[in-house]
Amino acid sequence: MLQATDIAKSFGDHEVLRGISLDVERGELISLIGPSGCGKSTFLRCLNFLEHPDAGRVCIEGVTLESNKHWHRKDEAQAHRLRAHVGMVFQSFNLFPHRNVLDNVMMAPLQVKKMEYEKARAIASELLEKVGLATVKNRYPDRLSGGQKQRAAIARALAMKPSVMLYDEPTSALDPELSEEVLSVMRALDEEGMTQIVVTHDMRFARAASDRVLYLEEGQIVESGDPDVMFVHPREARTRRFLRTLL
Ligand SMILES: Nc1ncnc2c1ncn2[C@@H]1O[C@H](COP(=O)(O)OP(=O)(O)OP(=O)(O)O)[C@@H](O)[C@H]1O
Ligand SMILES: [Mg+2]
Repeated sequence: MLQATDIAKSFGDHEVLRGISLDVERGELISLIGPSGCGKSTFLRCLNFLEHPDAGRVCIEGVTLESNKHWHRKDEAQAHRLRAHVGMVFQSFNLFPHRNVLDNVMMAPLQVKKMEYEKARAIASELLEKVGLATVKNRYPDRLSGGQKQRAAIARALAMKPSVMLYDEPTSALDPELSEEVLSVMRALDEEGMTQIVVTHDMRFARAASDRVLYLEEGQIVESGDPDVMFVHPREARTRRFLRTLL
C-alpha cells in the first residue's frame, strides 16, 4: 500500500538519504532504527513530503508523487492528496494548547473535511474512548500526562482516517510506564490491521511488536528483516555493532 523508491535527500552538501526504497504491505508494523543522525526522521518526513526528497518516488494508496529539485504547484496538490492517506505523530505531541482534547481531535475533520459538527464529535469521542481518554476529553493539553498527550495526538491523527500512521519517536519523551500506554495503543491498532511505520529507540518494542525492522545507517538501509532474526543474528557487521552499543 506504500511504496517508496530511491528516496534521496541532501542538506547542502550533506547527503542525508542515499537512495532508500521501501515497500510496505497493508497491516504491517515496521520499525526504523539506527544511530542518531542516520536519517530516520528525514526519511519519515519524505514519505509524506513534509520534506521534499531531491529524488525518488512515493506511492501511497495509488497516489504517486515523483520528486526532483523543481517543484510545481500541481505537485503541491498531489502532495496534499498523498498526505490525506497519512497520519503523523511526533515526539513532542504538537497538540493545540488552547483547545481541549476533544476539540483537538475534531479540528481537522471539521476544518479540512468540512464534516458536520455532530458527526465529527461522535467520531472524536469514539477515538478518545479507544485510546483510553474518554474521561479526560474536556481537559486542556497542559492538564494531561505525556502519555495522555501522545494518545490524544494519535486519536487526532486517526480522526482523518489515514491508511498509514507514521510515528517519529512517539515515546522518547515519556517515562517507561507512560510509554507503555502509548505502545499498547499502537499494538491495538496493529491488531485492527492499521499500517504503521515507527521510528524508535525502543528496541524492546521494535523486537516484540514489529513485523519488520529496518536498520538505517548513513542514509541507507543496511539490513531489514524479521525482528526475531535481526536482533539475534544480524547479517551485517554494522547492524551487529549498533545493536551491541545498546547493550
Ligand atoms: N533541515 C535540516 N537542515 C540541515 N540539516 C538537517 C536538517 N534536518 C536534518 N538534518 C541533518 O540530517 C541528518 C539526519 O537527520 P535526521 O533528523 O533525519 O536523523 P535521525 O536519524 O532522525 O536522528 P535522531 O535519532 O537523532 O532523531 C543529520 O545530520 C541532521 O543534522
Ligand atoms: Mg529523528
